Amino acid sequence: MDEGKQVGRGAWGSRLGFVLAAAGSAVGLGNIWKFPYITGENGGGLFVFVYLLCIAFIGLPVMIGEILIGRRTQASPVAAYDRMSGHRRMWRLVGWMGVSAGALILSFYSVVGGWAMHYVVLALQGTFAGASPEQIGAAFGEGLLGSTWTNVAWHTAFMAIAVGIVLGGVHRGIESAAKILMPTLFVLLVVLLGFAMQQDGFSEAASFVFAPSAENLTAGGVLEALGHAFFTLSLGLGTLITYGSYLAGKDDVVTTSATISVLDTGVALVSCLIIFPIIFTFGMEPGAGPGLVFVSMPIAFGSMKGGLLLGAVFFFLLLFAAVTSAISMLEPMAATFIDSFGWKRRRATWVIGGSIYLLGIACALSMTGHLGWWTDIFGKSVFDSIDYITSNWFLPLGGLAVAVFMGWVVPEEDSREEFGAGSRFAALYPLWRFLLRYVAPVAIVCVIGYLFYNTLTS
Ligand code: TRP
Repeated sequence: MDEGKQVGRGAWGSRLGFVLAAAGSAVGLGNIWKFPYITGENGGGLFVFVYLLCIAFIGLPVMIGEILIGRRTQASPVAAYDRMSGHRRMWRLVGWMGVSAGALILSFYSVVGGWAMHYVVLALQGTFAGASPEQIGAAFGEGLLGSTWTNVAWHTAFMAIAVGIVLGGVHRGIESAAKILMPTLFVLLVVLLGFAMQQDGFSEAASFVFAPSAENLTAGGVLEALGHAFFTLSLGLGTLITYGSYLAGKDDVVTTSATISVLDTGVALVSCLIIFPIIFTFGMEPGAGPGLVFVSMPIAFGSMKGGLLLGAVFFFLLLFAAVTSAISMLEPMAATFIDSFGWKRRRATWVIGGSIYLLGIACALSMTGHLGWWTDIFGKSVFDSIDYITSNWFLPLGGLAVAVFMGWVVPEEDSREEFGAGSRFAALYPLWRFLLRYVAPVAIVCVIGYLFYNTLTS
């Protein structure tokens, strides 16, 4: 592996471009699809509060750490860990684990992204208008989950978009896509929020999301909040090492990370304030699980005035969010092959995108036929297994690795210098170091221990 900065390596065109691309990575299905339904399942308020604490005191410090590793080394995760650790094999492995997990996650993420495309079309065709809850449930069940070809076709379309953008490179591909998609996404969110605020259920929804009520929160829920904080901020897989490596040495990483976290959290909360008023107004269950967005929302869109258009807007939003996240799972692995093996971007993107595509087909096929797949989440389908292993094990382990690496392995002078470079908040260094050395590792070890215990006892 070469030591110097590669000639012709990608770079962001502007700081705003980087913020939008990183926020595009963070804002995804995790915010609009997953966060509302796990909030619903965990009873709202208190869960949201715990989640906010996890973002601020664990997620944000780890995010800063990841971006700093990338900015300092100007390299993709494997080479970055290799150089900064003084060529220790274990850290190179951590890099490989991260980029592989990103590719694995993308295989099923793309299938769900395909569902969003399918739903844009369904909404525009007026499929939901006046349909009964049973019909809409069946459109998701037999119509989508039960149909191999529908799944594979949309997965193909979605992966094609992701590959197409990554082929364009850092500046012309990823950054340009984020500069178009993210502002559009913010506008769509505001439009939908404006609509949700006029619903009768808005105040009920707002107190569900913000008023801390302890009733439904369990220890498992607290750990789920931490796990989701990692997923939603795109931590632990080297995505942000990769994106950070396209930054120049003096960019302010602390302020930028805070901005990204605030944007991501804002979108998650606004998504709840869009979804729950509609759910409550139409008398549906907030704890409906993964079907919340794909079943409950269409039922509501089907019975409201203007629901056709709103439904289409909503699923466009979901799609845009998914696309900018998907490219951020493909890019780290592509960049690794470019940096470490000297591949051309075109070859790396096609080979890796193609492999992920094939694995995604296995995910899509593995769902066909069993209708209530969300009822046995730890069941045997490829889709569920990949989701389970990556989200529950690889992400926390990757986050732990970043915290231990920046907190304990990298010499203090180096981390202090990196943290302070270009930042107005250099004085916060001791706090950051404390959070990385103690708070984040202890919290993550609790999550992993709990999972371990659960796996053993179930
Ligand atoms: N953060 C994205 C979401 O909320 C998903 C994502 C994109 C991600 N890149 C990642 C998760 C890297 C973990 C690691 O949907």
